[in-house]
Amino acid sequence: IDVCKAAIEGTIVATSFAELRLNQALNEYGPDTEIAYPDTGYELPVISGLEGTKVTKLGQLPRILNKFKKNLKHEFDFENAKMAGELTAISAEIIEALKYIGDEDPYEDEVYTGFVSDGVLRELGVPLVDGTIPGIALLVGKARSSEEAAELVKDLQGKGILTVLNDQIIEQLIEEDVKIGLDYLTIPLGHFTQVIHVVNFAVRAALAFGGEERGDYEAILTYIRDRIKAFVLVLGDLDEVRIAAGMAANHLGLPVITDQDVQEVPDWFVTEKDYEEAVLLGLELQDIHIEIVDIPVPITVGPAFEGEQIRSDGMYVEFGGQRTPACELVKMREKEEIEDGKVEVIGPDIDDIEDGDKLPLGIMVDVYGRNMEEDFEGVFERRVHYFCNYGEGLWHVGQRDINWVRISKEAVEKGFTIEGIGHILYAKFKSEYPSLIDRLQVRIVTDEDKIDEVLDEARERYTKRDDRMRELTDESVDVFYDCTLCQSFAPDHVCIVTPDRVGLCGAVSWLDAKAAYEIEPTGPNQPVELGECIDEHNGQWTGCNERQYKESSGKIEEVNIYSIIDNPMTSCGCFEAIMAMLPEANGFMIVNREFSDQTPVGMKFSTLAGTVGGGNQTPGFMGIGKSYVSSPKFVKGDGGIRRIVWMPKELKEHLRDDIERRGEELGLDNFYDMIADETVGETVDEILPYLEEKGHPALEMDPLM
Ligand code: SF4
Ligand code: NI
Ligand code: NI
Repeated sequence: IDVCKAAIEGTIVATSFAELRLNQALNEYGPDTEIAYPDTGYELPVISGLEGTKVTKLGQLPRILNKFKKNLKHEFDFENAKMAGELTAISAEIIEALKYIGDEDPYEDEVYTGFVSDGVLRELGVPLVDGTIPGIALLVGKARSSEEAAELVKDLQGKGILTVLNDQIIEQLIEEDVKIGLDYLTIPLGHFTQVIHVVNFAVRAALAFGGEERGDYEAILTYIRDRIKAFVLVLGDLDEVRIAAGMAANHLGLPVITDQDVQEVPDWFVTEKDYEEAVLLGLELQDIHIEIVDIPVPITVGPAFEGEQIRSDGMYVEFGGQRTPACELVKMREKEEIEDGKVEVIGPDIDDIEDGDKLPLGIMVDVYGRNMEEDFEGVFERRVHYFCNYGEGLWHVGQRDINWVRISKEAVEKGFTIEGIGHILYAKFKSEYPSLIDRLQVRIVTDEDKIDEVLDEARERYTKRDDRMRELTDESVDVFYDCTLCQSFAPDHVCIVTPDRVGLCGAVSWLDAKAAYEIEPTGPNQPVELGECIDEHNGQWTGCNERQYKESSGKIEEVNIYSIIDNPMTSCGCFEAIMAMLPEANGFMIVNREFSDQTPVGMKFSTLAGTVGGGNQTPGFMGIGKSYVSSPKFVKGDGGIRRIVWMPKELKEHLRDDIERRGEELGLDNFYDMIADETVGETVDEILPYLEEKGHPALEMDPLM
């Protein structure tokens, strides 16, 4: 097959189909009918991005389709084929968007996701930038057999690749009982034109993380070509439309590998019939590097399983979760005290118990390293949670002495034991922190008679650590750290991380950044020498300004660490929560990512997120990590925590202890109760009477504006 010729022919088919559907819809509903995808602040993203029009009505579409149709030429070369691919993408966007007229979820009854929401985009943002997810594979069509489809996808899952599926391969995987869904980083889009939703995803990454403008065609294409590490496997029969879709991928800089014979376009549209080789070729073409560690356990270990749930009917054994005493501790020890690689279970293991049993659990990780510092213990200890969850059939929540662990029946059937937890931890710690950890051993205590002893040991250490943390404030250090990890997506963004202010993703504290710097001195966390303090109240230092200037490519000259109104920190897109000013209430509201309803600022989280990201300063709006709320430096320059007038109930409850403690420290009686939530109201007018009745302190403060 000549793929260039076929792509142009396929485009004609796709475009005619889009026109037909569009005309039918116009006749049926009329041009003023609203058209929108659900849960997005980017309208129809492919069109918003590449063309610039914020489409909200059906009647806007014919002009756009016609505009792109003009780019179709009939010479069969690669350049024209790629432009044809683009037209196919626009056609697919229109066909898909039509399905959402008057129907928020047209795939409700199917396993298909269809349009991928902004929430999911953001959720995947952090792991994509920090390399936890090293790349994306798009699989379309039908594999030679279901068995081979299953093998292929498991291979990708094991490598931690985000796998996006379209067409019959989805049914093949279901037939083989392969775990699919967002929890497994394996997204079944749907069939046929639903493949456009992966392009929608990429375009929004450019808008949201890259801060590119809608309609800045070149900038958006460049962003996707440079930063999205993805490749496409087209499996099974190639019809013209499928080839045209492949050309759309090429146009976006993504190589296409097919298992059929074609006239190749070298490096862009190529044949590889062996699926394992095809994956390796895709990784190579996109320069994706997978770190492979052999872990001696009979289950797959990788971030694809991080979101896996194990319900009580699927579990073989569980530990902790207030049912049995449990804890986990990473502790620095002397060199002589550690036998590197030793994993020991003290007490019963799987063979000694029965299905449904509960055991106590102490996960004691002993480390030694020449460059290790006691301060890093907490940083490493939090990794226990992630590493455990990487195990297929292993589930972990909580931390310290409120952890809760389950092992699934399935994992036990495969031969997994409690000892295996130790092997996973050993392998992951050693491979991720080679410069800080020289020796590591794991003791896993499941013995009822010995658990109290390790609990005491752990609690003593937690107390010591907490005391140390209290001493650690912005005043007690002379360097902050920056974090430029998100620049791989938001090129002009920088987080300045201080002891009193966590990075806006919530995942990088000052100590995390410090440890990361020790591990990789040229990495994304660099020390920021404070220099001279220009404004103590708002938190402005010459050192921070200089760093902000440099990292924003000269766009931003000043940054106030403690203000949201006056030169606030920029946002990339990974924020755990967004703060927004409510001038009518003389205060701020905060909304967390999980909350999808309307908020008093008149926007849902997804729409707000579209306004805040991209590495820009947006006075009055700011992305934050949830725990910043409890910091004594929390928007100190603007009046601090007293200004909080609204947050979703769930977030409020999550932060209850901290808010109550901060309220007491500030001499506010019952401050927790004064903060409105969605049960009080979702507009300023609805919450104002409540704030007045409760005597909310914000109403008495200096006007914000
Ligand atoms: Fe991204 Fe900031 Fe988190 Fe670093 S601290 S990963 S830059 S959000
Ligand atoms: Ni798991
Ligand atoms: Ni980010």
